[in-house]
Amino acid sequence: MFRCYNGITISQLTVPMDATWASVILTVVLLLTWLTTKLRDRLSHWQKRGVPFVPLNWRIIIDSLLSRKYMNDWWMEVYKKLEGHPFGGYYNYVTPMLMVRDPEILRTVLVKGFSNFHDNDFHMDVSLDPLAGRNPFFLKGERWRTVRSQITPAFTSGKIKPMFYLMTEVCQEMKTYLEKVSPQGPVEVKEMSNKYTSDVVASCAYGIKGDAFTNPDAKFLKAGKNLFKASGWGTAKMIILIFFPKLASFLRLRFISKEVEQFFRSVLRDVLSLREKSGIVRNDFLQLLIQIKAKGQLPPTQQDKLANENIKKLPTGENTNYGDEDILAHATTFFLDGYETSAATLSFILLELALNTHIQETLRAEIDAVLDEDQGELSYDAINRMKYLGMVVSETLRLHPPGLSLARVCTKACEIGESPGPVLKVEQGTVVTIPINSLHMDPQYFPDPERFDPERFSEENVQQKLRFVYLPFGEGPRQCLGMIQFVISGARILMSCHIIYWYFTDSARKYINSVHDPPLANALVVLSSTAEDGEIEVRISVGLQVRFGPNEGSGCYSRLKFRDHIKQEDQVSHRY
Ligand code: HEM
Repeated sequence: MFRCYNGITISQLTVPMDATWASVILTVVLLLTWLTTKLRDRLSHWQKRGVPFVPLNWRIIIDSLLSRKYMNDWWMEVYKKLEGHPFGGYYNYVTPMLMVRDPEILRTVLVKGFSNFHDNDFHMDVSLDPLAGRNPFFLKGERWRTVRSQITPAFTSGKIKPMFYLMTEVCQEMKTYLEKVSPQGPVEVKEMSNKYTSDVVASCAYGIKGDAFTNPDAKFLKAGKNLFKASGWGTAKMIILIFFPKLASFLRLRFISKEVEQFFRSVLRDVLSLREKSGIVRNDFLQLLIQIKAKGQLPPTQQDKLANENIKKLPTGENTNYGDEDILAHATTFFLDGYETSAATLSFILLELALNTHIQETLRAEIDAVLDEDQGELSYDAINRMKYLGMVVSETLRLHPPGLSLARVCTKACEIGESPGPVLKVEQGTVVTIPINSLHMDPQYFPDPERFDPERFSEENVQQKLRFVYLPFGEGPRQCLGMIQFVISGARILMSCHIIYWYFTDSARKYINSVHDPPLANALVVLSSTAEDGEIEVRISVGLQVRFGPNEGSGCYSRLKFRDHIKQEDQVSHRY
């Protein structure tokens, strides 16, 4: 018999060891039993309520966790399986969710019954993440209402129009960049669009020169890449933040890293102090935020009054002061909400035009005609008269909406649906999925949905019939704030410049069938130049060859002028 140093024999020791193991095993068994019961209970949520539902498909969930598939594939599957039902249950990972398919019920959730569904299903702790935590998208209830009504007046056409010239300035830089880099080899269109949106946000929201086209180490562009980088941990963090908010709070996960926050803080501190010292009043979004701080609010236009009508249904918001932290957060909102979404949209427009040259030609004819009327001058009014261009942008957002679905929380129990159809008592806390991409791909609303066809958005077609089935910017009081002025006008400006300066053709069509493959999500269109004939080629990373040539022959190219409206104070002098 072995003896331990304190005189206890090994056999004496094994008795308590066995007991320990037994209790460990018992705990594990109890824990597993508890977890299984809990899981079974969760996964029978919809069955117990007698709601048509789609059981969890573990394969898709595992594939999405491993980044082999999108959650969107799962939403598409659920949407299809619920065909014939106005709504139905399903599970996002293990959370019971309600998917609404019927446009009338979507109207109830997004507009008519907004006061019962006013929050998005995201949780952002402002003390942990002060910038994302102040973004209207993440705000809830009264706090959201206050902030939304404070900043909505900064997004109206009257306020944004002067920024048109800041955007055309970036277009000119992009043209110079393309002329320089395209002869050296392929250029990725997504990368190029990221440079463009990064410079536009830097100029409009922070009042600085982003220099993304000239400086490979441009700090603004780096901040954007850092924010949206698709690394293994980055993806896992996003999944936890979006689908497991309680775990995200417990792990103290932030949407904006400390490093990126620090960068934005130092940029804004310097710009604000420069403006204060020099008395600079620049026509940009930042100046509007400074005005909100100084005056408490921006004088509303008629359009603002209408927008505010929509949100009156919520209880009056708390009266908060608007300080420097809010200015910083709302300039960052521009970056957070607009940088990646807009860059993806611009890349997809370019891709679709390269694949559909007849559409590109129709567009070129329209732009030519409008410029003809205006003696070659590209102005804010001119781009708004380019109706076909608007249709191209709308169709791109249908086929490639950056936001694939929305998730609203039921904040007060209520009924949805109307008899004789099914009626459901929605419990408080239920999360409602609005399947944007599935609606956009439903042949009932968009025949031959895979086809890129701007005619779907012609005046006679669009009217009321697309309401609540075409939702790239959401709907109702929470609809995207940057939609009309920044996204639609911004895309029109950039695309008219692209069309004027270049023309692009393709030679293969297989990309269209694989547009929704995860590796292709970023529309890796690359531009390159062939040395011999001076033509520029667009190449898509999956082997799709597209030719991209200078458009010097077209009338609009030779006549193009930009009205010299950039006032001295609007010239961005400081760089980062
Ligand atoms: C192609 C580009 C963009 C797309 C597709 C897009 C789409 C969306 C969508 C789907 C929502 C949710 C709407 C809802 O809940 O009903 C949203 C919200 C929002 N967007 Fe955009 N967005 C884009 C660009 C921008 C830009 C450039 C800005 C700012 C300049 C912006 C600012 C916002 C804000 C502040 C919200 C939150 C609104 C609220 O909850 O009150 N977005 N956007």
